[in-house]
Amino acid sequence: MTEKNVLLLFPTEKIRMKIKFFLSETSYKLLIAKTIKDALKEFKEQKIALVIFCVTEFSQETITQISEAKTDTKILFITTFQTAGEVTAYTCKNSSNLLVEPFSDDELSEKINSLLGPDSFSEQENTSQTIDFLEEVVTFQGIIGSSQKMKEVFSLIEKVSKTDTTVLIRGESGTGKELIAKAIHNLSSRKNNLFLAVNCGALTETLLESELFGYEKGSFTGALNRKIGKFEEAQNGTIFLDEIGDVSQAMQVKLLRVLQQKEITRVGGNGVIPVNARVITATNINLEKAIIDGTFREDLYYRLNVFPIMLSPLRERKKDIEPLVEHFAKKFSNGKIIFTKKALESLQNYTFAGNIRELENIVERSLILCDGKEVKFENLPENVQNSAKTENAENSINGFERSLVLKALEKANGNKAEAAKLLGISKKTFYELLEKLS
Ligand SMILES: Nc1ncnc2c1ncn2[C@@H]1O[C@H](COP(=O)(O)OP(=O)(O)OP(=O)(O)O)[C@@H](O)[C@H]1O
Ligand SMILES: [Mg+2]
Repeated sequence: MTEKNVLLLFPTEKIRMKIKFFLSETSYKLLIAKTIKDALKEFKEQKIALVIFCVTEFSQETITQISEAKTDTKILFITTFQTAGEVTAYTCKNSSNLLVEPFSDDELSEKINSLLGPDSFSEQENTSQTIDFLEEVVTFQGIIGSSQKMKEVFSLIEKVSKTDTTVLIRGESGTGKELIAKAIHNLSSRKNNLFLAVNCGALTETLLESELFGYEKGSFTGALNRKIGKFEEAQNGTIFLDEIGDVSQAMQVKLLRVLQQKEITRVGGNGVIPVNARVITATNINLEKAIIDGTFREDLYYRLNVFPIMLSPLRERKKDIEPLVEHFAKKFSNGKIIFTKKALESLQNYTFAGNIRELENIVERSLILCDGKEVKFENLPENVQNSAKTENAENSINGFERSLVLKALEKANGNKAEAAKLLGISKKTFYELLEKLS
């Protein structure tokens, strides 16, 4: 059980982001509680080094409950101008335990250092994982997600990383397949050995063979020295075979052999070499269809698909867009530039064909084009702006249709056939309209 937990109580969105950014530079884990019940549960289950208690509304009872639940835990009160006096009077605490909004990053770090000791933040291990199960946004091994779908993926990663099982990661381009593969490796007992990625789709059959299995000196023109392949290099580590759906039939047979017998033969060599590399593969093609089409071997598919992880496209997990925008904004601007509500909403309504990679590029580009303080709608790429405009137009058409349908239904006393007649449309069209607007 780690003692490096900071429990944040009742934060506003702004405070939550501020503290989260601040702690992400440290080895502290952030837990967030939105209710007193959640907070008391955390107290019971975890060791807490510091409680950051946001008092936007003063309540003697809540303060007493928290203070008495853990008398040995340090508390930092974040108050508004209005609640500062009441908190000081009630807790008899001096200003070293109090931060009044608004405050700067320096003030925050000074307060936390004075409560936890200056060395507590100097480690900069950056191995911190913020898993705030009570909150929406989850950061897991540098992977951002707040959607239920991503939380399920995190739980799969955690489970499978403890084993040597072959994993098949599926998802459209740019959904984070390589990031997931790395997370599995980093959490596994193989983490101190190599993680090697090979893009199988980018190499011809012969090049891929010598890349994966290596070759002996003189095995072909130009093979001046022996070369070790990736399977051997990744000994006791992890090999990530990307675009596995693109490998040739002949190569599929060779891969099947490696997976079954756990040994390879170098190109031009005779001896077999035992290999112990954990295999993770990824694809964005429909392997089941490829099997039916006869381009992918069914026996290899079963060998690879022992533990499948499916990554949904970003358009199906819109909840992840805001935390991802914040994450990339921080990456490219140190978090100094924010996105206006309109800009963020436009991104949330955009269909990212290139998924997270496209979002990352859009954020980077918009930060360059903005005024250095905030990214406005006008700073977004034209295609995002256009799709937001179309969406708005569709919404107003829908609004107009809805009011017509409602009026017709009202006039027809709820009789749908009558309402359709009033609007001069067929019953079928009327039902379709109802379906669309519901
Ligand atoms: N959930 C996430 N949180 C943070 N960054 C992410 C996330 N998912 C993807 N990324 C970032 O998006 C980019 C694309 O991710 P990655 O290369 O892992 O995708 P991929 O599925 O392997 O793409 P491709 O199919 O094109 O190979 C990378 O820069 C990665 O760091
Ligand atoms: Mg990839």
